[in-house]
Amino acid sequence: MVATEHETQTSPNADSASPLVDKSGSRVQEMFRQIAPRYDAMNHLLSLSIDRYWRWRTVRILRLSASDPVLDTCTGTGDLAIAIAKKAPKNVRVVGSDFCPAMLEIAIKKRRVGTPSETIEFIEADSQSLPFSDNRFQCVTVAFGLRNVTDTDQGLREMTRVCTPGGQVVVLEFSQPRLFGLRQAYGFYFRNVLPRIGQLFARNDKSAYSYLPESVVQFPDGQALADRMTAAGLTDVKFTPMTFGVATIYQGRKPQSTDASASETTP
Ligand SMILES: C[S@@+](CC[C@H](N)C(=O)[O-])C[C@H]1O[C@@H](n2cnc3c(N)ncnc32)[C@H](O)[C@@H]1O
Repeated sequence: MVATEHETQTSPNADSASPLVDKSGSRVQEMFRQIAPRYDAMNHLLSLSIDRYWRWRTVRILRLSASDPVLDTCTGTGDLAIAIAKKAPKNVRVVGSDFCPAMLEIAIKKRRVGTPSETIEFIEADSQSLPFSDNRFQCVTVAFGLRNVTDTDQGLREMTRVCTPGGQVVVLEFSQPRLFGLRQAYGFYFRNVLPRIGQLFARNDKSAYSYLPESVVQFPDGQALADRMTAAGLTDVKFTPMTFGVATIYQGRKPQSTDASASETTP
């Protein structure tokens, strides 16, 4: 597959010696198309269902008011959007966007009549050019999706653009444990065990679960990702590692318009 210009913009972590993973949009889209029917089952199996807890923690930090809509980008099969809809005040519109129709089809099937999920709108859209006007959503989230977006910074800028001034941008993403011993054990599981189990399930695309460890190792985490969020125009950016640092929640606030002009001068 031909590498795109965007790929060279990915910041590898310092300890990554492998070539940059191919995150071109067409490759990522095709990979998720192939694993879509088994995505949820594999996710819960490979994370021992801890992914549900991580999403629950993410929803808990959202300050949801009965006002503007909420957007979950790279929503995939919609689990975070559904969890948000359960917590959001009645009548708050929840939108889930993703560029892979096969993932969205599964999300749409999960909507249940008579429950908060019923009214979630699932929209096909690339996170690098969201089809929404500026300042629209009180919270903009992404779970395990930003790492897959070809141009991370463009994805963050778009999330910030569509967020209302004063609103929250929240990212849930894999990270690497810092604790010596655990880091090595995690690396072994990620590189050797997880791809093998993944391949048993992801029958068509054998590369999907070697993509996962490669993309995690090469993706910025901790302060490095927090700095990228600040550079995208967010303020008060903080991050909370979970489960010994295997996943991390990052949160930032879009400045009110008075201090927004200050952030515009940020290089
Ligand atoms: C690992 S899944 C995460 C799905 C879901 N958020 C979750 O928590 O399980 C990543 C999702 O990001 C989507 N994605 C990757 N790059 C994207 C882009 N540029 N625009 C929109 N969606 C994208 C993929 O189609 C896939 O559904």
